[in-house]
Amino acid sequence: MTALAHTPLAPATTEWWRTAVIYQIYPRSFADANGDGIGDLPGITSRLEHLKDLGVDAIWLSPFYTSPQRDAGYDVADYCDVDPLFGTLADADAMIARAHELGLRVIADIVPNHTSDQHAWFQEAIAAEPGSNARARYIFRPGRGEAGELPPNNWESIFGGPAWTRTTLPDGTPGDWYLHLFDSTQPDLDWTNEEVREDFDRVLRFWLDRGVDGFRVDVAHGLIKEDGLPDFTPAEDGGSMGGDEVAPTPYFGQEGVHDVWRRWRAVLGEYGTDRILAAEAWIHPLPRMAKWVRPDEMHQAFNFAFLAAPWDADGLRGVIQESLDAFGSVGAPSTWVLSNHDVVRHASRMALTAENPQGHGIGPASPGLPIADLGLARARAATLMMLGLPGSAYLYQGEELGLPEHVFIPDADRQDPTWFRTAGERYGRDGCRVPIPWEGDVAAYGFNATGASWLPQPDEWANLARDTQLGVEGSTLEMYRAALRLRRDEGLGEGELRWEDAPAGAVAFRNGGVRVVTNVDAAPLALDGEVLLASGPLTAADELPADTTAWLRVVPGR
Ligand code: NOJ
Repeated sequence: MTALAHTPLAPATTEWWRTAVIYQIYPRSFADANGDGIGDLPGITSRLEHLKDLGVDAIWLSPFYTSPQRDAGYDVADYCDVDPLFGTLADADAMIARAHELGLRVIADIVPNHTSDQHAWFQEAIAAEPGSNARARYIFRPGRGEAGELPPNNWESIFGGPAWTRTTLPDGTPGDWYLHLFDSTQPDLDWTNEEVREDFDRVLRFWLDRGVDGFRVDVAHGLIKEDGLPDFTPAEDGGSMGGDEVAPTPYFGQEGVHDVWRRWRAVLGEYGTDRILAAEAWIHPLPRMAKWVRPDEMHQAFNFAFLAAPWDADGLRGVIQESLDAFGSVGAPSTWVLSNHDVVRHASRMALTAENPQGHGIGPASPGLPIADLGLARARAATLMMLGLPGSAYLYQGEELGLPEHVFIPDADRQDPTWFRTAGERYGRDGCRVPIPWEGDVAAYGFNATGASWLPQPDEWANLARDTQLGVEGSTLEMYRAALRLRRDEGLGEGELRWEDAPAGAVAFRNGGVRVVTNVDAAPLALDGEVLLASGPLTAADELPADTTAWLRVVPGR
């Protein structure tokens, strides 16, 4: 590997990740330099200064590795190369170097639970004999039933349908089955196999050597399956990423997975103390998830309990306290997140009026579709509450523009495997993955120069484009910029939360010199003190209406 020419970041005096605001880039949909309709690394590099201007500390990029893209890159065929769709390794180096030059840290996404079926290992495995070393890297089993015609157990894919696919022998007769907790093109690896473990150590070092500052770890609750692979029927309302059970399932939350994270922590330790691991672990309740961030495991875990909390004052207060307690009990910072590439964007989700299980997505025929203005008001209020909390916060690209879910994607344009595996019963996640608008009056809203877009962009997004909002008082973008600036200036990330009294339907707390007051659904609230920032207009009497958050200057002595 050639030496990299990026400017090293100043050595950290504190653990930067405890307070960082990390911006998720979904590479397919951020910026497209070559105009083919799919975003790419040169596109990202060209737009990084906007993120610096926004005020974030780090970026996390969803996978850009070699992949047949059956699950938008979460099906990796080569972990140590870049898919030509996104560019080259040199483009990755340039992106990392530019980010570092701007003082932005870079988190890569690593997908250890499964590979693509196009990965050399899986190709070797299906060509090999049952019982061979090549097959032992995955989870192959004979079927049940007289002729092995039934899957080895009753597990279902998180994307719908069975979690097992039967192989075909060279002579055309059916053979063993292989496990895939996600799409059939994403075979699960066998993490009891030392060769698998060693190979991932190599992959980690490959990217750490190239300068990444850490990894978001996909399906960090998976990897280890219960011995004997017993049958299991998950609860009806389990989220699309699974693992929402309170107790371990035979495929999620198994104790053995923690050995892997300790091993990975040691690998990162070879690079000093600044590189991090962030767990995508759909585990609840929060005290259980805290096991992922014990001192010798990961640094952070996504707080999906906060993301999933309904717009309800008591519930919000409860989940915030529980998060601080649970993560704090193991010395980890709490994280906060409201949107990502797997869930309905919070500007829509927060105004849904019917049940919408996580990951099912929304489309034209969904019941209880959101009212746009209400969703945006609540989203802004929730964001301002979130950014006032101590700890580390994640933003998902486009939320700073107030983008809603794209509900009206024509069926023929849908791409999420969830849509196909459920024969259209679940819309899936395409609606939150639409390429984002940069400039209101040009092709593809500036996503590229050709107008091509892998998912169609809604007409109304001209009004939400970055340039339409920049410098406009009261715009969502200006609210985010102001909040991130104040959060930094006031040291809110490293602060401490103190609850304050609030009427029913409202939440109030103090963090250092700032009081955060959210009126969820109470009557308008009189505000006591200087308003530093508000998520929406106050009433004519300068009161805080429902669905609105304000940051106030703490009056000394009160
Ligand atoms: C979680 C990722 O965020 C999601 O997009 C992906 O489909 C699954 N893991 C499988 O890798």
